Amino acid sequence: MKDFIHDICVVGGAGHIGLPFALVFAEKGFNVAVYDINQVALDTIGKGIVPFMEDGAELLLKKALAAKNLTLSNDAQIVSQSKNIVITIGTPVDEFLNPEFKIITATFEKILPFLNEDQLLILRSTVFPGTTDWLAQWLKSKGKMPLISFCPERVVQGKAIEEILNLPQIVCGITPEAEQAASDLFNLIGVEIVRLTPLEGEFSKLFSNAYRYITFAIANQFYMITTSAGVDYERVMDGVKYHYPRLDGLVGAGFSAGPCLFKDTMQLNSFAKNEFFLGQAAMNVNEGLVLFVTDRLGVKYDLKNTTIGLLGMAFKPNNDDARASLSYKMKKVLTFKAKKVITTDPYVTSDHDLMPLAEVVDQSDVLILCVPHKQYEHLETKGKPIVDIWGFLGNGTLF
Ligand SMILES: NC(=O)c1ccc[n+]([C@@H]2O[C@H](COP(=O)([O-])OP(=O)(O)OC[C@H]3O[C@@H](n4cnc5c(N)ncnc54)[C@H](O)[C@@H]3O)[C@@H](O)[C@H]2O)c1
Repeated sequence: MKDFIHDICVVGGAGHIGLPFALVFAEKGFNVAVYDINQVALDTIGKGIVPFMEDGAELLLKKALAAKNLTLSNDAQIVSQSKNIVITIGTPVDEFLNPEFKIITATFEKILPFLNEDQLLILRSTVFPGTTDWLAQWLKSKGKMPLISFCPERVVQGKAIEEILNLPQIVCGITPEAEQAASDLFNLIGVEIVRLTPLEGEFSKLFSNAYRYITFAIANQFYMITTSAGVDYERVMDGVKYHYPRLDGLVGAGFSAGPCLFKDTMQLNSFAKNEFFLGQAAMNVNEGLVLFVTDRLGVKYDLKNTTIGLLGMAFKPNNDDARASLSYKMKKVLTFKAKKVITTDPYVTSDHDLMPLAEVVDQSDVLILCVPHKQYEHLETKGKPIVDIWGFLGNGTLF
């Protein structure tokens, strides 16, 4: 039996899912290694700075660094020194909306020499159904036989620290031993365990995201129908939901974006041989909402002579993550049609074109609330018209 230095190595551990996971386990007293190819992010983390917004993460990071139970490395060899290997790399879809396997295979090619049969490998990234079984076969063909499990991450970005500790953990093993070893690990942080087979678990994660994506699409489609009819969707929604629990699940309209919901719905569509019609419809509705807004603006305003100000460039409220944000689709479409498009966001740091809120309000003829960050709650628009599909400002549908 091999002696290990680290209890856990999180591969992709500088990312949005890997880092909170590493910090939660470090806080519980585990000796955690973070392996990531992003040296800039590792340097930032090493200085006690979390590279993205995540509630409670900075405090845990500072504690872990002080306690010396967090090791940061860009050298794959650290995998060989770790008992449990947790994979949290990104799993995007390609330009044809099919899963991008190259990232997974490249990662495993890199860590392959450092895997052994005394280790537990936990796939935590969201994967195409069948990936865990494929991985087990592939590793076996290379003569590597760690215990292999799939334990999907289901937290919502920004609340990961709290949710890792409170959500039940779906645990799936390639073998009963792998399932038990993964359960034992999560038992140590006191979460409830739900056992599924790997294929069931892979579906469960994709269903979670596709279900949410479709739920948002229902609201967005209702919004477009009512708005086209000159009716305020918020009023219809509030009226129909009043003391009517069967519609508790009906939500407000909003730009449904980000690095997960769209791509995981497309992963499922790809698995379903492009016959996941509900998922495709949800994609058309959610992506189409931007075009609906820009089209209506074009009817109401002479866009060639109109400066448009976009408020909120992150993919969701009160977060700094601009990955796959529909605000950028809005910007692209309007840049083509309008005199000028100017943008602002209180959190996003990755975009050098952003301007202060007051300047955007001053210089714009029309504003669009792309993301309802809390800073916009009492927004002073100085008489400028504002499009608010979210119903956030309480003014009803203004266009
Ligand atoms: N972001 C979410 O809210 C969320 C929620 C649940 C599940 N997920 C899933 O978690 C996974 C990770 O998502 P994320 O948002 O954390 O992505 P991310 O891009 O923030 O993090 C991925 C990390 O992996 C690193 N990486 C890439 N290739 C590597 C390699 N070969 N070796 C080591 N490190 C490597 C990157 O540098 C990056 O730091 C995805 O499968 C995603 O679908 C995400």
